[in-house]
Amino acid sequence: MTRAEIMVTPEEMEKQEQYTELIRSLPHKPRSYYVVTYGCQMNAHDSEKIAGMLDHMGMDAAAVREEADFVIFNTCCVRENAERRALGNVTWLKEVRKKKPDMIIAVCGCMIQEPGMAERILKQYRFVDLAFGTSNLHKLPELLYETLNSREQCVRVEEADLIAEGLPVHRLRQDAAYLTIMYGCDNFCSYCIVPYVRGRERSRDVSAILREAEELAQNGVKEIMLLGQNVNSYGKGLPGSPTFASLLKQLDGIGIPRIRFMTSHPKDLNDELIEVMANGRHILPQFHLPVQSGNDEILKKMNRHYTRDQYLGRVKKLREAIPDIGLSTDIIVSFPGETEEQFQDTMSLVREVRYDSAFTFIYSPRTGTKAAEMKGMIPDEVSTERIQRLIALQENLQQETLKRFIGMQEEVLVEGLSRRSKLAVSGKGKHAVSVTMEGTENDIGRILSCRITDVKNNTLMGERV
Ligand code: 5AD
Ligand code: SF4
Repeated sequence: MTRAEIMVTPEEMEKQEQYTELIRSLPHKPRSYYVVTYGCQMNAHDSEKIAGMLDHMGMDAAAVREEADFVIFNTCCVRENAERRALGNVTWLKEVRKKKPDMIIAVCGCMIQEPGMAERILKQYRFVDLAFGTSNLHKLPELLYETLNSREQCVRVEEADLIAEGLPVHRLRQDAAYLTIMYGCDNFCSYCIVPYVRGRERSRDVSAILREAEELAQNGVKEIMLLGQNVNSYGKGLPGSPTFASLLKQLDGIGIPRIRFMTSHPKDLNDELIEVMANGRHILPQFHLPVQSGNDEILKKMNRHYTRDQYLGRVKKLREAIPDIGLSTDIIVSFPGETEEQFQDTMSLVREVRYDSAFTFIYSPRTGTKAAEMKGMIPDEVSTERIQRLIALQENLQQETLKRFIGMQEEVLVEGLSRRSKLAVSGKGKHAVSVTMEGTENDIGRILSCRITDVKNNTLMGERV
């Protein structure tokens, strides 16, 4: 596929602008909207784009969903419970609408992109007015216009393989921003539905990314989070095949105080990237490196393309180059056929690495993936017991691991008032660990220096300096 085929054409974007104009002048257009978001940062950022487009149509954000004229559910389908929760909430809103008959309900995102889901919405969820997949996001003006004018159910799904540049964004935070560098995934880990619903891997142009970062810098953004399903393989298919490391180096030169990125695949984490991170000025000493399992046979069945030893080798290299780096991971327990011994390999890996945090999941079969066809589903009781043991281990280790920060100075981007005290604020330090310290509402959005004095409930306590 060539680049020109990947980009949404300027003519198409112009057409959507015309629909935006048309909706703006409609007397019966919705006045307010509410976006409900499930899933990962990618989805959170898509929701910011949806909100941006709706602002542009002249609507206002509602404080609660029950009061909005237009409610959009941006769904996730990575695990079954995310999907179940989303559909449950959509159904609940049907009742709310009985009191507010003009309310328009839309469902979008990864779940709509699943095979068979569009038909299911048409049959089982007749009260949903509008449904569109991740591939149709930029067509929201056209689809909404159609919905408003016909009152027929409008369901649209296409192959997810496009990049739309220049969509308006309604950012939830002024101090920190998401910046997508690539879409889709080509890895086909055997348990994962993402490549099927988000499409093939495609990277944004370096120039478009740099332009967006410069704009964010001018707007005073203090932290950017680069987003992609596998940022380490950024650049595939672009002219000159730029690497992620080279992109990161250029972004580092812009001068935004803090740069983070996620997610990385261990097989693509190369020395070039470690070097750029170690020598960078603004790239934060933090790495999210999903391991998924500590057992070689399971890793192979997961189609992860690395062994336990190779993974541990990458961690060692990261720590040699960037001492005290903040490390986090994703782990799946009870992959089909996982034995107690194989699970113990995951437990021992967690003991060996000592992560600052870990996201743990019970394997959830997803129709259409390779793993869903595998034999050896683990009974629920065993899975629950395994994940509990893993969480308990991680929590105990974390409490110890975080003590290495005591006495150190940390820079914290303040996110809000602490939930525990009105006289305290909290935010993330450079190492991506939460820090609580003395402060007031006026400190929100500022970067504060503090000395770490203690660890409480997996949060660092800081004293301002
Ligand atoms: N079951 C359980 N966890 C999954 N993940 C992805 N697919 C599945 C699945 N089918 C987890 C992985 C991934 C994270 C985002 O979600 O750990 O890294
Ligand atoms: Fe899914 Fe694997 Fe791609 Fe991550 S790298 S999105 S787990 S297929």
